Amino acid sequence: MRAPAKKRGQKIASAIAARLNPRVTLEAQADGNVAARFDAYAAGLGKFSAEALNRVRGLRTGLPLASFSPPRKAIDREIDLLVRRLADRGLLEYRLGRARGKDDLVVIEPQAPGYWPQSPKLPDSATIALSRFAYMRRRGNDMVLESPRAIALFKICDPKVAAAIAALSAPQKIGRMRRQPGFPGIELLGLLLDSNILFKVDAKASDGRRSNEGDENLVLWDFHDLLFHTHSTEGRQANPLGGLYPYADAIAPPPAVRAPWPGPKIDLNPFSAATSDSNSPCIKLLSERHSTRDFDDEQPITLAELAKFLEGAARVQSKWTSKLDFDRDSPDIEYTARPYPAAGSAYELELYLNVANCDGLQRGFYHYDADRHALVAIDTHEQAREAQLGAAEFAMDASNSTQILITIAARFSRISWKYSSIAYSLILKDVGVLIQTLYLMAADMDLGGCAIGTSNIDLFSKMTGIDFHVEGPVGQFALGRGFKPTAAD
Ligand SMILES: Cc1cc2nc3c(=O)[nH]c(=O)nc-3n(C[C@H](O)[C@H](O)[C@H](O)COP(=O)(O)O)c2cc1C
Repeated sequence: MRAPAKKRGQKIASAIAARLNPRVTLEAQADGNVAARFDAYAAGLGKFSAEALNRVRGLRTGLPLASFSPPRKAIDREIDLLVRRLADRGLLEYRLGRARGKDDLVVIEPQAPGYWPQSPKLPDSATIALSRFAYMRRRGNDMVLESPRAIALFKICDPKVAAAIAALSAPQKIGRMRRQPGFPGIELLGLLLDSNILFKVDAKASDGRRSNEGDENLVLWDFHDLLFHTHSTEGRQANPLGGLYPYADAIAPPPAVRAPWPGPKIDLNPFSAATSDSNSPCIKLLSERHSTRDFDDEQPITLAELAKFLEGAARVQSKWTSKLDFDRDSPDIEYTARPYPAAGSAYELELYLNVANCDGLQRGFYHYDADRHALVAIDTHEQAREAQLGAAEFAMDASNSTQILITIAARFSRISWKYSSIAYSLILKDVGVLIQTLYLMAADMDLGGCAIGTSNIDLFSKMTGIDFHVEGPVGQFALGRGFKPTAAD
């Protein structure tokens, strides 16, 4: 006689349900047109039948994806279209619950528009492990599971699910996991795999988990660096970003100048007066440098000026090779010299130009080949270029169009191949150095420029087809001929 099967607790339902983000409301007009409202914004979603509008009410509590996708009837197609339009705009979340019961077990919060839950099939023979980039943390009263590789965040509403995920810090075979109490369900594991929070481990690779996850470029990233990169830029996260003054009501503004230290002071003013050299070209250039946000549409920068600007600020001046420090037998490593200093002479920064208005150069997106001193056109959608320019103009609160938007992108591996723990911080320091060089070159040529503190790493990835962890934006600089107000202005 067979022993009765052990009770393993309630199973997780296989149904993933789409739910409206709690901050979003749907409004239908008499003619069937539907709009989604969130904060002060409204997004039109199209015209739908009364039956479809009735059914999408289920989005408030959760509409199982399997109930309309793949569509079997015309009404399913309508619901599918409406739900996908909401997903494209990042206005949905997704819930997983138990087979019986209304409580959420896991809620998926997309961090970028366009996320759609996918749960690839996982055979019992597959071995999976937690990504080294995944982490759980408290957010308010919730526990959230995140990864800089994922464009969705998983809110874990049951500590047992958290325990099952923690157990995946060591690789587990699916077949074996299924037999364990607290198995979190194959659907959740598939969703986590799709979001790169879990990854498949090659059965033969018993060690070297870091080198088994992703390509060589990913292997070189440290955890904290990839997290900082994705969370201090736009495109792969949904946190509030930019100059929002979040604590203006609660904390007094810190002073512009640090309060003096107590104790005796040595006054430097008499020395400065004695050695003052107002004719120094460096002092003159530094005092002339300033940010320009408004550009002269009628007299744009010329191609000849752009060539001089790039040559002066960024062109490769010479090349050489050298061995690894302390290893004369190492392969030769290539180096370059350029006009600005860079950590370890790595020169990992590349310039990409979104050209909107330059006399002698077609509108378009170009890479500056600093070695050959040439611009190479990259085929991109105009809509993406416009979106990038629009975001820069918004960041500068500019009243007219940017002429050239320079994106400073880092080839991350070039620097993380050498430096542990400090790679990303060195990149950001290099960006600061390069930005000041661009500012000074612009000032010297009587051109205008302005640094921009935000950049969208996902948009750049779409424009170039390069994965976000391989090469991506770490800074931006608007360049053009500054608008000079006339006496009449
Ligand atoms: C790293 C960095 C980021 C900046 N980001 C922006 C920005 O997003 N928008 C903007 O209008 N100005 C930006 N600026 C320009 C500063 O606002 C400007 O340098 C500062 O106000 C001092 O003015 P000045 O450059 O004319 O001397 C940035 C400057 C730096 C160095």
